[in-house]
Amino acid sequence: MLVVTELHKKYGSFVAVDSVSFRINDGEVYGLLGPNGAGKSSTIKVLSCLTKPDGGHVQIDGLDIVAQQAQVKTRIGIVPQDIALYDDFSAKENLLFFGRLYGMHGADLRKRADELLEAVGLLERGKDHVGSFSGGMKRRINIAAGLMHRPKMVYLDEPTVGIDPQSRRLILDLVKRLNTEGLTVLFTTHYMEEAEELCHRIGIIDFGKIIAEGTIPELRAVAGEVSPIEIELRDVPTPQQLEALGPIVESLTVDGSRLSLLCRDSKTALPAILQSLAQTGARVHHLEMDEPDLETVFLKLTGRRLRD
Ligand SMILES: Nc1ncnc2c1ncn2[C@@H]1O[C@H](COP(=O)(O)OP(=O)(O)O)[C@@H](O)[C@H]1O
Ligand SMILES: [Mg+2]
Repeated sequence: MLVVTELHKKYGSFVAVDSVSFRINDGEVYGLLGPNGAGKSSTIKVLSCLTKPDGGHVQIDGLDIVAQQAQVKTRIGIVPQDIALYDDFSAKENLLFFGRLYGMHGADLRKRADELLEAVGLLERGKDHVGSFSGGMKRRINIAAGLMHRPKMVYLDEPTVGIDPQSRRLILDLVKRLNTEGLTVLFTTHYMEEAEELCHRIGIIDFGKIIAEGTIPELRAVAGEVSPIEIELRDVPTPQQLEALGPIVESLTVDGSRLSLLCRDSKTALPAILQSLAQTGARVHHLEMDEPDLETVFLKLTGRRLRD
């Protein structure tokens, strides 16, 4: 759906997007995760045809974003980080306005506006002025506006920043639902929990560069983190029981009946660990497992925390 090749964007001599390459498959939710100032919005602005790239190529649905801009625009929905709505218009009038910009009219235009008001949970507020809405409600209307012309792919630039938890939940669930209905999504965020929850694949961006990319398990592997597993046995383990674990775990420490293990791929290792223990007759009383999250991955790659 989207192929970005060595994209560059400069402001004067400052390089905001530095040779960024990634692709998004049809039907995927792709996350650009990075701290403030990483270059997420600058990337989105180029992909939205709002500014020209200073280098590189972008293809959307097989079309070049510079040479075939008009066709590209019908395929993408843009939901900018800064809310772009008319406060003096009602929610529905805003949606009608954005639909008309894309050449929609008549019954189809009105039907689509109602459909989307319903989708963002604001059908009953359709006649109210957007100026009277909370930040979260405005953001939901902003998303609806970007979807009026039924794009194949939507860009959501930090759609959950500074809003109430209820609106945030609604937006995350909406993105999931739209995606199951076939919409391809490019989602930017500096909240790693959101990226973990929503995205099929994630590109971690920092200082204008993609420093790691992949599915969450792949990114965890990049960080080379080992997952800690704590096992409390019913009895103090015998040397035989400990020996059985040797080939499976990276390291093992024993404190009475408590085992602390480190292993590389905990999802694969855990059944093997439990099976070996069962074979030696050990009885498990309690088990705890942690997996490295994206924060750990970012820390490992950059030496900084995501929200510094
Ligand atoms: N119009 C602009 N002029 C100059 N510098 C800009 C402009 N827009 C963004 N920048 C700078 O480019 C960098 C990336 O910004 P941005 O793409 O907005 O990051 P993000 O969306 O990841 O927070 C930042 O250092 C920012 O200050
Ligand atoms: Mg931004």
